[in-house]
Amino acid sequence: MKDIDPTMLSADDWDEQNFPRPEENEFDQVVERAISRRGFLGGALAFGSGAAVMTGGLLSSTSAQAQTASRFPFKPIAAHTDAMVHVPEGFTSQVMVSWGDPLMSAADGYDITEGGPLEGSDMVFGENTDGMETFVFQGRQLIAINHEYTNRKTNLPAAQEGTPANADDVRKLQNLQGVAVIEVSEGENGWQVVKDSPFNRRIHHNTPMQITGPAAGHDLMKTQADPTGTQSLGTLNNCGSGKTPWGTYLTCEENFNGYFGSTAEVAEGDPAPLAPGYARYGIGTDGWGYDYHKWDARFDVSQNPNEPHRAGWIVEIDPTDPTSTPVKHTGLGRFKHENAAVTLSADGHVIVYMGDDERGEFLYKFVSNGTYATGGPTDGLLDDGTLYAAKFNDDGTGEWLALTPETTGMASLAEVLIFARQAGSAVGATTMDRPEWVAVNPKAIEAYCCLTNNKNRGVKPNAGGDETPVNGPNPRETNHYGQIVRWRPHDDDHTATTFDWDLYVMAGNPEVYNNVYGGSDNVTAGNMFNSPDGMAFDSNGLVWIQTDGDDSNEEDFAGQGNNQMLVGDPVTGEIARFMTGPKGCEVTGICWSADRRTMFVGIQHPGGSWPTGSGLPRSSVIAIKRDDNGLVG
Ligand code: FEO
Ligand code: CA
Ligand code: CA
Repeated sequence: MKDIDPTMLSADDWDEQNFPRPEENEFDQVVERAISRRGFLGGALAFGSGAAVMTGGLLSSTSAQAQTASRFPFKPIAAHTDAMVHVPEGFTSQVMVSWGDPLMSAADGYDITEGGPLEGSDMVFGENTDGMETFVFQGRQLIAINHEYTNRKTNLPAAQEGTPANADDVRKLQNLQGVAVIEVSEGENGWQVVKDSPFNRRIHHNTPMQITGPAAGHDLMKTQADPTGTQSLGTLNNCGSGKTPWGTYLTCEENFNGYFGSTAEVAEGDPAPLAPGYARYGIGTDGWGYDYHKWDARFDVSQNPNEPHRAGWIVEIDPTDPTSTPVKHTGLGRFKHENAAVTLSADGHVIVYMGDDERGEFLYKFVSNGTYATGGPTDGLLDDGTLYAAKFNDDGTGEWLALTPETTGMASLAEVLIFARQAGSAVGATTMDRPEWVAVNPKAIEAYCCLTNNKNRGVKPNAGGDETPVNGPNPRETNHYGQIVRWRPHDDDHTATTFDWDLYVMAGNPEVYNNVYGGSDNVTAGNMFNSPDGMAFDSNGLVWIQTDGDDSNEEDFAGQGNNQMLVGDPVTGEIARFMTGPKGCEVTGICWSADRRTMFVGIQHPGGSWPTGSGLPRSSVIAIKRDDNGLVG
């Protein structure tokens, strides 16, 4: 990795740089196997002509359809490297809300440039926007939106190296992360937050949560403060999002491990041993520098060893009821959740596709036992069901492996869910190149997942010791460009346990490489990118792809410019660049206004002084419209 300003790192990159997973044994054996597998697949994939790769791939429609005209109603833009947002000719973008903006009048004057006071920090738009979803209620437009992590040095300018010096410092950081629910409206000056709306709400690291599902109440979930194991505080490291058919928001806890640490030592400088199961999730004695554990005993694992078991879940929030208690659904498993792509089968079963974003971890699916009918009851639908992990075969088929006590040999369903990663290993799920967002095509029975990159592919095992040889959906050793895999369930039924798969795109740089690292044949010098991450389908069945990658514009990444958003046609495989973000940013989070004439896009951890041109860079949500007010999705 290049020498990057640490304030401009994504949470994923921070974890990798500061807490690289330990080297594992059998290194030589793993590499040897990877090379032999690469030989099997490499030639076919080099120019995108392999049976399992994108345009013309197994899942594509007829070649005649591939000849039809582009469905993109814009002229694709070039890569950019400056400190601006660029959109196509005929479109305009506007900053709607930024980190530190007051959601309530009581927080007027909150000034992030001074590090902001503790008072009011739970009433402003939080830092580092990520997944978001739109809801319409009583004629109002609400957006629920994640605040993934926070920049310690900026928010605690008086603290040395941004390390909290007291409990108030910790509390301020805790307030600036989590989730916001905001009411927005469009007026003469464009889109704005409706300040003091009764629906405006901040949910943060101390908001009371209810725990439901098979793991609720298990001994591994009980703490001193909550002997029932059913009521926790806060939601941590909220990354991607999801939306249920019944109109609630799903926020996904990703790098929760970084908030925990230990104060116990068996001897001076020698930390006490950690609980079984921590290592697989990256939970250590020091955390990521938030130092919560020194000021807030809840995060000190030597005092509360089960508290980390109460994070890493998917949380359901009702944005229409500001008094509602968010619910942690243990049925959906505990891992580093990226997002939650929800769909219904024809007979009403709820399917949730979920990625676990870590090198060599798995792709998951939950299928409810019960069914949903419009307006009907929803209790248990996200808890009572079966969790599966995906196994991809190199022949373009795959299967969903049920995670149960019987299949894993684990003692109970609660333990299967709390240690879902270990359960996935036990059944032999396929190690993946960091599954980020999953999206379900509304126009076809298929789903897509961004596999953002994986420098360890073919190099070393995952944190559980599972080998990570080059394999079908992860076909490149030391994969620093990423790819998007898609699958079509058999019988056109998302509850099916078997599927066919192919790669929609392999990102790469055809200007630098004339092999697999040049990308698939729908990647060109004009649309190339790296590290696909955020992803969503619009109502037309086009797939919007957001990136969180290397924006150095040098060497392997020359010509790819800043992080960006592209749009893909699932039928033809065509991909076009629609937007580029300011230097340093990650583009993440997308949703649309009720009339679909505005697209909301998140700009996380921008560099320079975007968007104001002076002062601190501020993570923001932008609104993109056509100049003729036409539809944008
Ligand atoms: Fe928060 Fe894996 O992205
Ligand atoms: Ca992401
Ligand atoms: Ca990422």
